[in-house]
Amino acid sequence: MKAVVFHGVGDIRLEEAPDPQIGNPKDAVVLITASAICGTDLHLVRGTVPGMKPGTILGHEAVGIIEELGDDVRNFSVGDRVIIPSTISCGYCSYCRAGYTAQCDHANPNGPRAGTSFFGGPAETGPVQGLQAERARIPFANSTLVLAPEDLTDDEAILLSDIFPTGYFGARLAEIKPGNTVAVFGCGPVGQFAIASARLMDAGMIFAVDTIASRLEMARAQGASVIDYNQEDPIETILQLTGGIGVDRAIDAVGVDASQPHDGPAAPQFKQMEKQFQEELRQIAPQSRPDGDNWHPGDAPSIASTWAVEALAKGGTLSVIGVYPATDRFFPIGKAMNKNLTVKMGNCNHRKYIPKLIDLILTGAIDPTEVLTQHESFNAVLDAYKAFDKREPGWIKVMLEPAAMIE
Ligand SMILES: NC(=O)c1ccc[n+]([C@@H]2O[C@H](COP(=O)([O-])OP(=O)(O)OC[C@H]3O[C@@H](n4cnc5c(N)ncnc54)[C@H](O)[C@@H]3O)[C@@H](O)[C@H]2O)c1
Ligand SMILES: [Zn+2]
Ligand SMILES: [Zn+2]
Repeated sequence: MKAVVFHGVGDIRLEEAPDPQIGNPKDAVVLITASAICGTDLHLVRGTVPGMKPGTILGHEAVGIIEELGDDVRNFSVGDRVIIPSTISCGYCSYCRAGYTAQCDHANPNGPRAGTSFFGGPAETGPVQGLQAERARIPFANSTLVLAPEDLTDDEAILLSDIFPTGYFGARLAEIKPGNTVAVFGCGPVGQFAIASARLMDAGMIFAVDTIASRLEMARAQGASVIDYNQEDPIETILQLTGGIGVDRAIDAVGVDASQPHDGPAAPQFKQMEKQFQEELRQIAPQSRPDGDNWHPGDAPSIASTWAVEALAKGGTLSVIGVYPATDRFFPIGKAMNKNLTVKMGNCNHRKYIPKLIDLILTGAIDPTEVLTQHESFNAVLDAYKAFDKREPGWIKVMLEPAAMIE
């Protein structure tokens, strides 16, 4: 079968890979009808989330049709259409039963204390072969997979695999109550769903910070007040628009590949911090391999979390859903501590939220497909990676159709 295979930082290839097989009675094999590229994949290829094993198939977002089932998978039939959540969960350990499905005791082959296991991730997450492929093996299929109702389109379903649940999880972690002011840093696909979810939770004013015009425009279309960090100082602007108080809740939907402002009033102060950011980057991502305009690590790893802390009101809540690797030690703990902030973070417990979000889509409470701007053929996946990595205008979320290639 064809799959996107990681060979090294800055080196991914669309090539032949072995067909997946049932290896355990709880496994399923799924034909992938829809997959997608995520900001998390960019961290892996840029090297800012290190530890990828060469030969790992990338991708952790997919929808597909069950082709084969192990004997212990009794809640699905061959031919069922399913959403594959990014994170894998057994359904019966104490973590899964409490809803912490991203911290399942059994999913990660490296043992119960090894943390989240997701498809197509670094060695420490499994590794489990990913979903940018024609087929995939799904461990713990009976509890991980979610049946896709007939009325749910593939376009809607693919967004439920990771990014809508993650945005929703981010808004829940932020403890948003009706009327709260909220700042969302990062208006990529995850940030867009954080904004949508804050609205579902009846947030008051929502501020959206980024620098890419098409992404800010999409945030504005959702009713957010937008701030371009290359035109304004985002913290001063948020303070000005909140009567000097700051926001009740902040969501970091940027993660480790954050960029510093190079223009506008905020740029000069960061010019002085360039050395510090370079040192952070050196420690977080010892290996990077930029190629022309592609695969450049962000030049200010700690800036988004620092801005989120600074934008908050005293006693506010910070939610971190942007991904940071284990090598990252650069969180502004002193600033957060001295404002009595609550800080919550982590990998999304996808399996917990997907059923509820299916209902929100089917009842018409939300149309997630506004965020899906690109449908690309699987043959063109490497070009799609490059365009998404460069954040070309209008490229917000990319869907792929691997099974459509099979003759
Ligand atoms: N916690 C989870 O379970 C989970 C799940 C999925 C994705 N993620 C993470 O969420 C993050 C966002 O994912 P995405 O797919 O939207 O990625 P993306 O790369 O498309 O979006 C990131 C956005 O942040 C913006 N940005 C960069 N520096 C900034 C700054 N200083 N201030 C404000 N904005 C800035 C970029 O312009 C870009 O629009 C990534 O870190 C990804 O790994 C986490
Ligand atoms: Zn993802
Ligand atoms: Zn479990």
